[in-house]
This record gives sequence, structure tokens and C-alpha cells, in this order.
Amino acid sequence: MGNWPEEGLHTRVCTNAPIVILRIERGEGKRKIGGGKKVKFIRRGTILLLSVLILPSLLYAQEQQKEQVIYDHDRIKDEMSRRWDPEKYDKYPGHIVQQGEEAAAWQELFGKLITGKGLRILDAGCGTGEISFLLAGMGHEVYGIDISPRMVDRAKEKAETKTESDIGRRVHFQLGDAEKPPFEEGFFDVVVCKHVLWALPSPQTALDSWTRVIKENGKVIVIDALWDDGSLVTSLRRKVGRWLMYVFEKRDLSSSHYSPALQASLPHAKGVPLGKAKTYLEQAGLCDIQDVDLNYLSDIQKKDMPFWYRISRNWDYYAVCGQKPLEK
Ligand SMILES: C[S@@+](CC[C@H](N)C(=O)[O-])C[C@H]1O[C@@H](n2cnc3c(N)ncnc32)[C@H](O)[C@@H]1O
Repeated sequence: MGNWPEEGLHTRVCTNAPIVILRIERGEGKRKIGGGKKVKFIRRGTILLLSVLILPSLLYAQEQQKEQVIYDHDRIKDEMSRRWDPEKYDKYPGHIVQQGEEAAAWQELFGKLITGKGLRILDAGCGTGEISFLLAGMGHEVYGIDISPRMVDRAKEKAETKTESDIGRRVHFQLGDAEKPPFEEGFFDVVVCKHVLWALPSPQTALDSWTRVIKENGKVIVIDALWDDGSLVTSLRRKVGRWLMYVFEKRDLSSSHYSPALQASLPHAKGVPLGKAKTYLEQAGLCDIQDVDLNYLSDIQKKDMPFWYRISRNWDYYAVCGQKPLEK
């Protein structure tokens, strides 16, 4: 073998070996070994080969970069407050609490988790108020807050129609951020948060705040799910479900989704695993943490749903509850 140059990046061929060896070396790149044409040819070939290999990776990296734009908290809240459409929300199967078996199942669950009558409850991220109405119907005084003005307006409109058992008078809806509920310390007996933890940029901040606004011995109840476990089966079920939904309902799927940037900015855009939710409660200082498997409730909801909604729902649905300890 000849001497290898010291500086500069160039390609060199070692022809006295049984196999032609292509090497990239640091050197001047001036010396010709085995004929200048051959070196030129190999150089060009190498450049072409490198371009073919490197270009797609560069384009892919750029694509990845595009998807990984991360919003700050204000931008997340801003997009979140504009995204929810109350008309679409209430029409979507599973969002309105159906009278009969479903309402009874929710009442039974809350009856077990919330002991006491006429309590003051915060419904954090109340949406159009379905859970607030249910809890008011059980005799509690409910304050619903939501970040979306349109959802709050819809909840207020619905409250005006709830004349039975004075439900409409026992619900109070206002705009507000679930991570920073605008209430003084110890104002509530209970905080309920259904299907919102996954949508928060800082779930721990929310749990800390909810613990602050409840009294000693008060409770925080989180109802959430791991909506998408990332498995192939789940992905297929969701794709088939969406496709059928498009075929049968002509539903514009693109408009019903968060932007890629918003999804990338949320720590739990695909749902909150139960273990993680429990950790948030523990770290907020809550004790006696219990969880309830709510898959039976999901099954009740599924009974009246078209097939394309049922097939997409294979999530792990739960309630998790913790109590604020007495100060020593
Ligand atoms: C899936 S909906 C659930 C609504 C309601 N809890 C229910 O179960 O019907 C999520 C709701 O959370 C609200 N939301 C999202 N981020 C929020 C935040 N930071 N503070 C308050 N509400 C928020 C949305 O506006 C939306 O109404």
C-alpha cells in the first residue's frame, strides 16, 4: 500500500489488495494512484452514492423537525380554547350522558366516591356541562370551568333548560384554566376532572392546584384513559373506525384533530396511563389513592354506538381518586 496523505478529505483506492477497497481519508487529495481516470470515476461514484444515502436522511430529518415544533403553554391554551366545537362535541357518541343505564352507572360511581350531601364541587374542564348536570342532579353545588368560551356558552345555554330538581340553579359555569382554577384555597369539597388531564400541558400543576382548592379530607377524582396505546392493533382499529366513519357519515376527519404541533407539545396527547395519573395525585400530596376500572362504563356507552365508533374504542378507561390529608 502507498502512503496515505495526512490532510483533506478524499477518496482513495487501494488496488494492490485482492478486493478493491474504497476508503475515505484525510489528505490532500492530489496524488493519483492507479491512474487519474479511475480515481475520478470512483470519486464521482462515491459522491453519487453518498448523495443517494444522505439526501433522504436530510429530508427526513427536516420533516421530523417540522413535526417537532413545540408550543409554549400559552400557545397550547390558545389553540385548545379555539379547537372545541360544542355542536360537534355534543353530537359525538359517548359525550352526552344517556339517561337510563349510563346515567345510573355514573351516579352509582360518584355516589361511591363522593360521600356526603350538598357538597361544593369543581368540574375542571367541564365542556358542555354533562358531568356538572349529573352531579347537580345528585344534590351538589357545581362550579364548572372550561378554557373554551364556546363550550362554556353551550353549558350555560343547557343549564337554562335544566329546570328539573333545580339543576340549572345549582350549576355555575365560567371561563377558566383547569391548571389554575380561579378559586381560593379550600373552597371546594371535591374536584372532578373528566377527560381533560390528557389535554393539559402541565398535569402536575393542575393536580397541585386542585389539591390547593379542596378542603382537608376533600377529594380529587380524575376520569381519563389511555386512548391510544400505540400498538399495531389499536392503530388498525382506529384507522378502520375512521375510514368507516368517513364512508357512513362523511365526517371530515382532518378538522377534528389537533395540529401536529399541539399533539407534540402535550405530554399525554394519546391519553394518560393509569400509573402516571396515580403518580400525579401522589406527588400533589393526596393520600388513600384508589382506582376504579371503568371499562364497564365504556361498554354501556358502546351499546348504542355504530360499529365504527365501537371498533376504535379499546382504551383503558379508569377513575382515580385521592384525598387531601389533614394538616398536622
Ligand atoms: C374531552 S372534553 C371533556 C369535557 C367534559 N369534562 C366532559 O367529560 O364532557 C375536554 C374539555 O377540556 C377543555 N380544556 C382543555 N384544556 C383546558 C384547560 N387548560 N382548562 C380548562 N379546560 C380545558 C376543553 O375546552 C374541553 O371542553
